[in-house]
Amino acid sequence: IAPPRPVTSGKDPRFAPTLYANVGRPESWTLSSYLLSGGYQAVQRAFAIGNDAVIDEVKKSGLRGRGGAGFATGLKWSFMPLNDGKPHLILCNADESEPGTFKDRYLMSEDPHQLIEGMIIGGFAMRASLGYIYIRGEYVQAAERIWAAIQEAREAGFLGKNILGSGFDFDLQVHRGAGAYICGEETALMNSLEGLRANPRLKPPFPAASGLYGLPTTINNVETFCAATQILKYGWEWHAGMGTEKSKGTKLFQISGPVARPGIYELPLGTTFRELIFDWAGGPLEDIKVIIPGGSSCMMLPYTEAILDTGMDYEALAAAGSSLGTGGVTLIPKADCIVNATWNIVRFYAHESCGKCTPCREGIGSWMVKMYEKQVRGQGQPGDVQLILDMCDNIGGRSFCALADACLSPVMSSIKLFRDEYDSLANTGKPIYPARNRWRDA
Ligand code: NAI
Repeated sequence: IAPPRPVTSGKDPRFAPTLYANVGRPESWTLSSYLLSGGYQAVQRAFAIGNDAVIDEVKKSGLRGRGGAGFATGLKWSFMPLNDGKPHLILCNADESEPGTFKDRYLMSEDPHQLIEGMIIGGFAMRASLGYIYIRGEYVQAAERIWAAIQEAREAGFLGKNILGSGFDFDLQVHRGAGAYICGEETALMNSLEGLRANPRLKPPFPAASGLYGLPTTINNVETFCAATQILKYGWEWHAGMGTEKSKGTKLFQISGPVARPGIYELPLGTTFRELIFDWAGGPLEDIKVIIPGGSSCMMLPYTEAILDTGMDYEALAAAGSSLGTGGVTLIPKADCIVNATWNIVRFYAHESCGKCTPCREGIGSWMVKMYEKQVRGQGQPGDVQLILDMCDNIGGRSFCALADACLSPVMSSIKLFRDEYDSLANTGKPIYPARNRWRDA
């Protein structure tokens, strides 16, 4: 199918939104609307070219996992064993909970058939006959729309036995979480689906070797499956032609904080922060000091000219000392107390720690959050900042899953960038920038 015509400001003449192309159309979540926009043509192409060619197509497209880690999707799909005689499963991680991240929610509630089509394509490629969508419990409307779309797809013959006469059988189930961040960690998610407590499992074995119920399983994020739909629709060359050398395609960037038009923008990977913040989001409404580039688990970056000119892609952000993560960009105003803002993040991780391992349960869930509470209450003491840094040394790299390390990123980067604000609270009990009473329950 011919790719859509470019509609952007012209900075990247190849680019037109595709993941978000349907959003805003009348009743975009219904099958009839999806079919009008060329829906379910990608899956027909997948059936025509065959399972292995689909995996090859996704590999060549350069798609990398959009949940945050950026693992090569085609490679992940190729890990599924061939002819092992076992049932294969695919999972969609729709437990989006990273602070600053809200793209999957809109993908599911505004264009659920795009996800369903991506999962049929993935299921076909990986010889799976069943897929699960694990949706964050708070996403009520998204879950309802996904359920309704699955019903429609079943009735129209896109799910079920012998889909479109291809001989391929595939169906989907929806599982709703109960609002725990740890359920987005892929192995904890699988435990939760099995009815167990959502504690992470040791990796390896990776899910393709032993996943849900011990069966070969592949788990991808919502946006990743949606991107697979677009790749099969328009071809791998189209996808590989957007973005940077190693970060291909478009990404749903989210921007929150004091900007004129916060929201979700689909842009090619490698678009600069400057373009997102000024050209798309309408510019900041007050002085800014921090850019969190991809959800709260990323290192904070200073709001400087050089960072504004940095591309939002995996490589450029790693070189800048942070990561692309979920593409959830959050701006922190200059007038906000950084210790207070970081405390807000820390208490999120403390609350969400599953308690399985000691460094996270005690280190984050108890010590770290108490040290921050002490600071923001004005009860800090000289030596506290060094103590927090020592705690980071003792926790970092020693926890069972990535949750504790994720909490350390904002802690360590904010101390590195704004040591003066931390020292002021620890040494005098007084903040340089008084908290604007947003988190008054200290
Ligand atoms: P990871 O790097 O451990 O794994 C990423 C994916 O690649 C997983 O599916 C894993 O099974 C697979 N993988 C990695 N190495 C492999 C190997 N050698 N063989 C086979 N498969 C392999 O990252 P993880 O812990 O899954 O995710 C961390 C990221 O999640 C962070 O970068 C963060 O940005 C993001 N995140 C996203 C959230 C959201 O709401 N979307 C919430 C919290 C974190």
